[in-house]
Amino acid sequence: MRSIVVASTAGLLLGGQMAAASLDSYIAKESVRSYQGIMDNLGNKGVKAPGTAAGLFIASPNTANPDYFYTWTRDSALTFKCLIDLLDSGSSDYGLNRAELETDIRNYVSAQAVLQNVSNPSGTLEDGTGLGEPKFEIDLNPFTGSWGRPQRDGPALRAIAMITYSNYLVSRGKKSDVVNIMWPIISNDLAYVGQYWNETGFDLWEEQDGSSFFTLAVQHRALVQGAALAKTIGKTCSACSSQASQVLCFLQSFWNGEYITANINMDTTRTGIDASSVLGSIHTFDPEASCDDSTFQPCSSRALANHKVYVDAFRSIYKVNDGIKEGSAANVGRYPEDVYQGGNPWYLTDLAAAEMLYDALYQWNKIGSLEITQTSLSFFRDFDSTIKAGTYSSRTKTYKILTSAIRAYADDFVGLVEKYTPSNGSLAEQYNRNTSVPLSANDLTWSFASFLTSIQRRASIVPASWGEKTANNVPSKCAASPMTGTYKAATATFPTSTAGCIPATDVVPVTFYLIENTYYGENVYMAGNVSALGNWDTSEGFALDAGLYTETDNLWFGSVELIEAGTPIEYKYYKIESNGTVTWESGDNRVYIVPTGCPIQPNVQDVWRS
Ligand SMILES: *[C@@H]1O[C@H](CO)[C@@H](O)[C@H](O)[C@H]1NC(C)=O
Ligand SMILES: *[C@@H]1O[C@H](CO)[C@@H](O)[C@H](O)[C@H]1NC(C)=O
Ligand SMILES: *[C@@H]1O[C@H](CO)[C@@H](O)[C@H](O)[C@H]1NC(C)=O
Ligand SMILES: *[C@@H]1O[C@H](CO)[C@@H](O)[C@H](O)[C@H]1NC(C)=O
Ligand SMILES: *[C@@H]1O[C@H](CO)[C@@H](O)[C@H](O)[C@H]1NC(C)=O
Ligand SMILES: *[C@@H]1O[C@H](CO)[C@@H](O)[C@H](O)[C@H]1NC(C)=O
Repeated sequence: MRSIVVASTAGLLLGGQMAAASLDSYIAKESVRSYQGIMDNLGNKGVKAPGTAAGLFIASPNTANPDYFYTWTRDSALTFKCLIDLLDSGSSDYGLNRAELETDIRNYVSAQAVLQNVSNPSGTLEDGTGLGEPKFEIDLNPFTGSWGRPQRDGPALRAIAMITYSNYLVSRGKKSDVVNIMWPIISNDLAYVGQYWNETGFDLWEEQDGSSFFTLAVQHRALVQGAALAKTIGKTCSACSSQASQVLCFLQSFWNGEYITANINMDTTRTGIDASSVLGSIHTFDPEASCDDSTFQPCSSRALANHKVYVDAFRSIYKVNDGIKEGSAANVGRYPEDVYQGGNPWYLTDLAAAEMLYDALYQWNKIGSLEITQTSLSFFRDFDSTIKAGTYSSRTKTYKILTSAIRAYADDFVGLVEKYTPSNGSLAEQYNRNTSVPLSANDLTWSFASFLTSIQRRASIVPASWGEKTANNVPSKCAASPMTGTYKAATATFPTSTAGCIPATDVVPVTFYLIENTYYGENVYMAGNVSALGNWDTSEGFALDAGLYTETDNLWFGSVELIEAGTPIEYKYYKIESNGTVTWESGDNRVYIVPTGCPIQPNVQDVWRS
């Protein structure tokens, strides 16, 4: 869905316009980089994810301190939701190839069907327990080390992503694919939510066992969407219809009158101020909703009051926030008491703070007014210290001044991300609270996905409604009675797409990546026993490209068109010095079997053997 935001008529100072122009150009570049960063981490094609099964995301290419070379159900579902929304919006931005993107989405669906049935330390599919396992090995094997498990947001988030894709298919007349392929997977996850929502589990930060606002908010959404999809395709989801309003009922307990307490039913000394509440609001944002407090919509009084409490909690604890006053964007992290990697701002939390405000702006614009209540007054007072509670129509000057100030405030959060993005555009997980140097996992898939969702909302490109309007009534009394689900391994898969696959008779473009530190003037080549590689003649070798070479990433690459589909070839790398001397790498000739069929983008990662 795409719609155009009404341009603010409030005047901007020239300095503001220049800042906006710089931010716009950063956003244009960083969104292409983010899309690429996401694809680099995707199994069977991504240059940073060698050995990963098709359709699985690694969380990050980092393999030590921390080792994130695994696939997480949560991160993958959130990222695929972003990608499915891109497909649904008709986007062809960021250089994306829509046919290839849809193949990726289908690979995700197939891989998740397999993972659902993998027995793991959380349990098995038989009674649903196995669905709560948060992470897996990249080859679809269970991760058997100790971990904070189960995590109950995963099945809900995966259901949301898959339902979104199902709605896309239905709208294109492909209901039978949804019935046969999608629903068997989705119904397992919905059954899990219906059965286990009233039990504790580890929160999204994987640290503490309890009841989590984020988890329940997305569980509620999943059940509501599940009920609607079931109806559309003539199926039933008894857990959806019986449990959704009870989940919503319990969700109300997280509001403490001032802000959202992120976790309850947990032994903790924490304040409960936590990014997970802001993430809950953005991942249950419905563009057609009113500013409902019950579902913590981004424009609701509760979400706005919570946003202020959350952001202000980091002002005095991070050195990088020195001198930044209330009402100006501050660097924010997971929660103030965080000590992981030293407890630092995260890119994805800064972006979530921005995204929630863009969502709210979208909602006010659509509704045509903005309401300030006693609850949200403190949030608005940051932009106008004398503002009073009341409803301000979009025709009023107050509305225009407030919304343009809030938009500038949201932009400031993205501006912080710009300020702390290294020149190569890489988004790590965190940056140091004192020095702002990026740290922890590099090229975090979720950081890139957060970048894309927030800048989409900034452009008023919003996802489809999830039906919040029909699901915001809180029962007068909470009476939890979860429902035992039934589970069955999904077996139907999409027919292997031949689009983009390689027939045995075709030319196969294989991309070779080589890591080797070289000096300026020294060039790297490949030779081998096939004509594309010069039949071992060093004057006819294949020249690699240094276009991706940086000081920290000594990468040479090249796409070699091989006609030997399905057969082995031999090759080796060599360098030609600036004076013309040829230096071969050491060791035996390398052997590579040129693939046929799918995967569609074969690539090879090598390191020079000195
Ligand atoms: C699901 O897992 C069970 C237990 O490992 C196995 O017996 C069964 O064949 C699997 N089903 C599918 C469809 O893979
Ligand atoms: C279960 O639901 C009831 C009613 O909403 C709530 O009071 C209780 O804390 C919940 N417990 C868990 C572990 O979710
Ligand atoms: C930030 O600086 C403080 C005070 O010097 C130090 O104790 C802390 O370890 C630093 N944090 C990080 C993440 O470097
Ligand atoms: C990008 O730059 C950062 C900071 O200099 C560095 O840590 C990171 O490894 C680089 N990433 C890539 C992919 O070059
Ligand atoms: C190249 O080397 C491979 C592996 O040794 C061999 O199987 C293949 O037949 C060779 N190709 C040619 C054209 O000699
Ligand atoms: C050519 O350059 C290489 C690398 O700098 C050096 O090792 C070699 O001795 C040079 N050869 C000649 C013939 O100058």
